[in-house]
Amino acid sequence: MIDDLINVADFERVAEGKLDPGVAGYFFGGACDEVTLGENVSAWGHWRLRPRMLAGHGEWRTGSELLGGELSMPILVAPVAYQRLVDPEGELAMARAAAAAGTVMCLSTLATTRPSEVAAAVPGGRRWFQLYCFRDRGVTLALMEEAIDSGFEAIIVTVDAPRSGRRERDLRTGFGIPEGLGVPSVQAALGSERAVTIEETFALMDPALSWADLEALASGCSVPVLVKGVLTAEDAMLAVEHGAAGVVVSNHGGRQLDCAVASAEALPEVVDAVEGRAAVLVDGGVRRGTDVAIALALGADAVLVGRPALWGLAAGGEAGALRVLELLRAELELAMALCGCDSPAGLSRAHVRRAPAAPVYSA
Ligand code: FNR
Ligand code: LAC
Repeated sequence: MIDDLINVADFERVAEGKLDPGVAGYFFGGACDEVTLGENVSAWGHWRLRPRMLAGHGEWRTGSELLGGELSMPILVAPVAYQRLVDPEGELAMARAAAAAGTVMCLSTLATTRPSEVAAAVPGGRRWFQLYCFRDRGVTLALMEEAIDSGFEAIIVTVDAPRSGRRERDLRTGFGIPEGLGVPSVQAALGSERAVTIEETFALMDPALSWADLEALASGCSVPVLVKGVLTAEDAMLAVEHGAAGVVVSNHGGRQLDCAVASAEALPEVVDAVEGRAAVLVDGGVRRGTDVAIALALGADAVLVGRPALWGLAAGGEAGALRVLELLRAELELAMALCGCDSPAGLSRAHVRRAPAAPVYSA
């Protein structure tokens, strides 16, 4: 069945049909009018590729280096909370899929499986840990320590959520995290296993986290620290100045500030501000290999995919998530080949230009 699904949009349709409406609203939805959610996808279409001819050697490799490690492709699995809501194996299945695809899985602070359990169950996999800083510093430090001791290779601190965005789909369905789902970090912070809403969960986090806190965290950490949720040149420079090894250009998949700038629009100014001093990653609306090619041409080192991997997991468990990652890898390879590039590193600003503002041909 999964083999009949030939692109990310196919997986999206199948996932939507399978999930309970409350769960689907949470995973598919964004904040308020979902302006940013929609623009994240459409903004990649504001760019066009400038392919070069007779430029390749007839052999293509999507492998790339990121923060000193080799990946099969510059496409990572973004941190997405509560994965057992869509698959009984949840994060374990996602971790196996990412490992089989040869790429990094980012495990959310709000995962339904602890970092040490994911590491034990999928020993060969590459993983980064996404950190939300709890008001309770003890809980935060214990989580970080567990992840680092379990072999997670980097910490990504998410900084775009001092509060939860207003997710109106969840308000209408009354969606909350069911009792018994088991989110170890939240249980530790609450000291109980009761059901909680997403808003209550965000209220456990430190809303006043500062660049000084970030610097203290990065300087005391034995693995690279990245900052996720940067949308401006100003914050990109602050992140680098305060010790970040990388930034993730992201608006949290359109789930936090509605009307925030789309990731594809924010990416060039961040790349220019960072000037190669740190890694630049981007997520939001990546649905095609050509979106990845455009991101790389604009100067990103890699992209992350959130919902696409999740749709894969919902549609077909580990095999579904793996197929989504493999489809995206194959699409990227084809886009590179047709641009005249043998490797992701060959894509440059010369391979991209703005799309025409208005349709060239009208009826
Ligand atoms: C997220 N995202 C997210 N980010 C994060 O730092 N920690 C988290 O726990 C979560 N949880 C989460 C849940 C769900 C259901 C979604 C859809 C997203 C944001 C995620 O990492 C990423 O930024 C976006 O998903 C990227 O956009 P696309 O690829 O989904 O369009
Ligand atoms: C979300 C959180 C958990 O976007 O990051 O729902």
